[in-house]
Amino acid sequence: MQKILVLNGSPRKDSVSATLCDSFISPVQGDEIKTYNAYKMNAKPCIGCGWCGKNKGCCFDDMDEFMSYFEQADYFIISTPVYNSGVPAPLKAIVDRFQRYYALRFDHGVKPAVAKHKKAALIIAAGSKGEGKDEIKAMFERQFTVLNTSLESVVFFDSTDSRLPDESAHNFVAEEGESFFNS
Ligand SMILES: Cc1cc2nc3c(=O)[nH]c(=O)nc-3n(C[C@H](O)[C@H](O)[C@H](O)COP(=O)(O)O)c2cc1C
Repeated sequence: MQKILVLNGSPRKDSVSATLCDSFISPVQGDEIKTYNAYKMNAKPCIGCGWCGKNKGCCFDDMDEFMSYFEQADYFIISTPVYNSGVPAPLKAIVDRFQRYYALRFDHGVKPAVAKHKKAALIIAAGSKGEGKDEIKAMFERQFTVLNTSLESVVFFDSTDSRLPDESAHNFVAEEGESFFNS
């Protein structure tokens, strides 16, 4: 059975990025899907203490369950709104907490730092036309180089200040998901 880890980054109940993410994973049947929301997780921000460079893991244990799912996952799906050309602060806190794997790779010499390869997808919603996609994509692509993870699909839905995704947009995203999970 394939394992899918979903991380939603929006605080909003009817979040555009999270509902598009639902469409993206809708073709998946019978696989194990574990979904987290960054705001509910309330992860402690990395404090740059260097603990992960001297030891393995993190001085905080609040992310251990999530990281265990991450290590076992075959797919990593992240959905996020654009906030000031980046991701919302709770999601950024989680991104920074992956530092334990950077330390594993470069301080402890573990290669690959994450044993199981993952295929990743990014679903981004922006209020304005064209904003934030390149910055967010670049951040994850760079980080994924030490996470044995390859970003293989990016869904970008912009201009939400003046429109919402309709049925055909959701169908399009579901088709993207179909080819992502089946290729
Ligand atoms: C604090 C904040 C900052 C935002 N910054 C940007 C921005 O820099 N560029 C942009 O296009 N939209 C920005 N937006 C708009 C959101 O990206 C947009 O409403 C998005 O569709 C929300 O997605 P969601 O429904 O998944 O939460 C911002 C919204 C908030 C609340």
